[in-house]
Amino acid sequence: MHRDVDNLCSRPISLLFCYNLFVKKKKLIVGNWKMNPASAAEARLLFRKTKQAGSKLDKVETVICPPFPYLGLFAHAGTTRVPLGAQDLFSTNSARATGEVSPEMLKDLGVSYVIVGHSERRMLGETDEIVSKKLKAALAEGLSPIVCMGEKERDVEGRYFDTLKSQIIASLSGTSRADLRTLCIAYEPLWAIGKSAREAMEPRTVREMAIFIQKVLRDIYGEEAAQLPSILYGGSVEESNTASILSEGGVGGLLVGHASLDAERFTKILKSANGV
Ligand code: PGA
Repeated sequence: MHRDVDNLCSRPISLLFCYNLFVKKKKLIVGNWKMNPASAAEARLLFRKTKQAGSKLDKVETVICPPFPYLGLFAHAGTTRVPLGAQDLFSTNSARATGEVSPEMLKDLGVSYVIVGHSERRMLGETDEIVSKKLKAALAEGLSPIVCMGEKERDVEGRYFDTLKSQIIASLSGTSRADLRTLCIAYEPLWAIGKSAREAMEPRTVREMAIFIQKVLRDIYGEEAAQLPSILYGGSVEESNTASILSEGGVGGLLVGHASLDAERFTKILKSANGV
């Protein structure tokens, strides 16, 4: 275990950490549809079934993030229990920016959350600097950003801790303590994305990484503010590992990709999260 994490685990802050993650907030379960489904008819059906399932649960907030073309279909159809999210946004409201979508357009459609800096966008060239601009643009528009970060691979020397630390520092640069109330951090190790639950990160390792993220936040923003953002895990979350990642992993929610595309499977994930 990383030295910092080791220290942190044995300090009183871990009690606060547990309070924040287990007691204070509803669990945030985010369905990231990515570039799916292929038709508006399928999107309508998936949205309706997911909303139906999420609306019945009181310990979970179910965020549905469809691709841009479908957001208009669900404009203002989000609710407190099942809010609408977007998968990306542009970094400003006014620019000559062909193909981009502005924060105010999202707001106007009733979008509440927005994923920022997903690894699949970072692979297309999105840098920490761009992520930081998008994050600030989302906050300025009153959207809740879900900022994604995570290492590409694990090395025995533990350099992935440094990778994650620099991603946190750079992506959140210029973000105030007050902003931490609104944003979430989604830790998504790239090597664990798009596989099966068997290949997801072990819950205890998720816990170690969540503690590390909070330690980095504490160093930047102080102890109290570091408790504010929900820390989510993403990467091959399925119905079989939902409960263990939430309980043993100690995270405040999950970012779910492929398993959010099947309404029955996603409903199982939501129910499982609601029961943790
Ligand atoms: P996955 O995707 O659940 O299919 O691994 C997660 C993500 O990329 O957000």
